Amino acid sequence: MNIAIMGFGVVGSGVAELIEKNHANITKRSMQQSLEIKYILDLREFPDSPFRDKIIHDFNQILNDDSVAVVVETMGGLHPAFEFVSALLQAGKSVVTSNKELVAAKGYELLTIAREKNVNFLFEASVGGGIPIIRPISQCLAANEINEIAGILNGTTNFILTKMITENMEFDAALKMAQELGYAEKDPTADVDGFDACRKICILASLCFGHHVYPDSVPTEGIRKISLRDVAYAADAGAVIKLLGVARKTESDKICIFVSPCLVQKSSQLASVDDVFNAILVRGDAIGDVVFYGRGAGKWPTASAVVADVIDCAKHLGKRKVLDWDVPVEGEIADISEIPFAFYVRGALPAGLSAEAAANAVGAEKILQIPNAPANEVALLTKKQTETALRASLAQAGFAPDSILRVTEY
Ligand code: HSE
Repeated sequence: MNIAIMGFGVVGSGVAELIEKNHANITKRSMQQSLEIKYILDLREFPDSPFRDKIIHDFNQILNDDSVAVVVETMGGLHPAFEFVSALLQAGKSVVTSNKELVAAKGYELLTIAREKNVNFLFEASVGGGIPIIRPISQCLAANEINEIAGILNGTTNFILTKMITENMEFDAALKMAQELGYAEKDPTADVDGFDACRKICILASLCFGHHVYPDSVPTEGIRKISLRDVAYAADAGAVIKLLGVARKTESDKICIFVSPCLVQKSSQLASVDDVFNAILVRGDAIGDVVFYGRGAGKWPTASAVVADVIDCAKHLGKRKVLDWDVPVEGEIADISEIPFAFYVRGALPAGLSAEAAANAVGAEKILQIPNAPANEVALLTKKQTETALRASLAQAGFAPDSILRVTEY
């Protein structure tokens, strides 16, 4: 079976190399179809690559070649990936992508074309890199009503927070180290401001709850404002700070979804997920909690997920894998400020307000302590309440905290 790869960067080259390296077993697992890379589309030349003879620069060569049944999209970005993938699906080719930006923004449209053309659009690598999560949710956990997903979905921010927690490293120094190690981009915005995790939780929420959830409907906050004092206060609360993507069904059948740094109790399975590792907790009505853990990025883990999807396409030529969701439902996303949570609150007390009075005002269950805290600073753990109620109490007390974080229950 002929395949093409669009984008010969880190992941695309990993896909080509993995197909060559494990060719015999991949053929066996593709029901004796030998996967042959016919084209690799890229703007660049790769004169030193063993795949140099396959490099092409014209997308139409792939589109118009009837012998190419499956195309891998590892270009990244929205354009021209969206136009290319749409055209390929329209032409009756199956497409496998690692591109979370594409799936989060255009998943519904692309899945619809795939359904109409009886081909497959698979994207296991778009969330959690090498961690199996899309297929387990859509197949292995298909008997469950999934009530909640909570994930450490971004390796770069998890690396930075781990350095802050375990080595007392300041945010800026940890970010610099992540860049030097090649985890964070030169422009780290998508990672540190939570947009990458947002795209991933949107894909998971769409899959679990059956309607497309768009990134711009998700309250998203990154980790730039987390300080070493927050990390220390969290430790006094028996917790660590993790950037989570959370999606949960509310009692009124809405979707509560957000990305933000949260206090996670040290006893939680998510608390011990360190460095660039990712973990995704899925809560189903029959299974209870199940946690998927592993490498969420990188050449080989991501290629592992992409090639598995290509094998699945090979096994389902002319047949559809059931992987689908619907249009968004108006009003389905809950107002996050009306969902009760326990909160961590830290800030400088105004003149005349004692720590005890501030604690009483917001229904605090604990006043947190760290050595060498600024004299007028207080950090509190509140009882469960809505953010609206919390902010009203804070305003009434005249207390404007620097940091408000949710506290999770898993
Ligand atoms: N920048 C991403 C991360 C790569 O750090 O997790 C994988 O999507």
